[in-house]
Amino acid sequence: MNSTTAPTATAAEPDPGLAHLPADFLWGVATSSYQIEGAASEDGRTPSIWDTFCRVPGAVVGQHNGDVACDHYRRMPEDVAMIAGLGVNAYRFSIAWPRVQPHGRGPANARGLDFYKRLVDELLARGVQPWITLYHWDLPQELEDMGGWPARDTAYRFADYAALVQTALGDRVEHWTTLNEPWCSAYLGYAEGMHAPGRREPAAAAAATHHLLLGHGLVAQQLRDRATTPLKVGITLNLSDHLAASDDPGDLDALRRADGIANRLYLDPLLRGAYPADVVADLERQGIKLPVRDGDLEQIAQPLDTLGVNYYSHNTYAADPRADEGGGYGAGIRTVPQGAERTAMGWEVLPEGLTRLLVRLGRDYPGTPLVITENGAAYDDEVAPDGQVHDPLRVEYFRSHIAAVCRAAEQGADIRGYFAWSLMDNFEWAEGYRRRFGLVHVDYATQRRTLKDSAQWYSRLVERFSR
Ligand code: FCB
Repeated sequence: MNSTTAPTATAAEPDPGLAHLPADFLWGVATSSYQIEGAASEDGRTPSIWDTFCRVPGAVVGQHNGDVACDHYRRMPEDVAMIAGLGVNAYRFSIAWPRVQPHGRGPANARGLDFYKRLVDELLARGVQPWITLYHWDLPQELEDMGGWPARDTAYRFADYAALVQTALGDRVEHWTTLNEPWCSAYLGYAEGMHAPGRREPAAAAAATHHLLLGHGLVAQQLRDRATTPLKVGITLNLSDHLAASDDPGDLDALRRADGIANRLYLDPLLRGAYPADVVADLERQGIKLPVRDGDLEQIAQPLDTLGVNYYSHNTYAADPRADEGGGYGAGIRTVPQGAERTAMGWEVLPEGLTRLLVRLGRDYPGTPLVITENGAAYDDEVAPDGQVHDPLRVEYFRSHIAAVCRAAEQGADIRGYFAWSLMDNFEWAEGYRRRFGLVHVDYATQRRTLKDSAQWYSRLVERFSR
């Protein structure tokens, strides 16, 4: 491993506008449990929906799975040293529910919890703030067998699991995120079937949305009620910046529908205490009703200390009767390419969308501090003959997007932190290991970690900020 040398600062690099950010800004790197941990059946962990899904022929590129991943479960202390070596002051990671509560109900598994206790202790010892996500998609398979997120009971199971985690870590962790990207859990998992559990039932996706949000609300309230030390509670949404291709009423309606199902269906209940009436009507036209009971919306709209924003790209929409791009938008909507460069995921690089999104959130949902909990890019990196990984496109991606964050702050958005996705290359869900998002390159045959140029660049940026 050649990751221990601290990158040196160079004065010559352009400043993306750091002076617009608050002095206590958090700079971090992010990962999630299933994507990096491996050790899929160690110390009492049971299968999650992703372990099961990876075994379905054709579900994941190359039939890859998370059995070993980055072997982080065993290499955690070295990985934390690597994080600290970057100079960041925060690390966002998720807890694997099937490690901590293997049957999705019942008692905690002490060995699973021990891993996260050691991780938190290592981070704190090195001056890195732990930023916990309670759910980043690895639902215990036993709960899916009982209906998964479309079943209301799963929200209550989530609260019981969160209590076990809080009992173990609540005295040492300040930042708690309930869910990562509930739209992906609901729509990719239950409507499009391209993520676990691979179901294609649009009504189940809508029910999953509601129960994920209900689970969030239950956990947010419970975290505060049970807190023994001050804590901050948030949720992370994948939010995209959306525009219409033209002022044509059809295109404007395509924008309304797409933005409705992807952004407002989550933002409005969380921050305004009501589902958006137009989206509810769109769903009802498809014969789908959200299973809302009395009191649910009050439960969901708990105060948020931070709204986590995951941003990867922008989308421009047009009406097109022949198109059906999924995502729960319904038929008749097409995404119009903007002619920008694309990452290896095929996502267009449009940093200006991030500025627009952050400014919009500050305007439409005022009073909630924002944290960019994920932003980054996949490229086809290779280790060069000099042993280094030169990834100029990723450096430019980060530079332009951090500049976009600074511009949003300059325009008044209240932004408190930025987490690069990802600390290291990892299991990229349905894309398996072929998509590399890391600041750190992972050679999966040897588990050797190599800091890419982008890691060194990010490290210098953070150092410059703290000077
Ligand atoms: C997000 C996920 C994260 C990662 C990035 C590329 O949707 O939260 O786990 O896969 O995309």
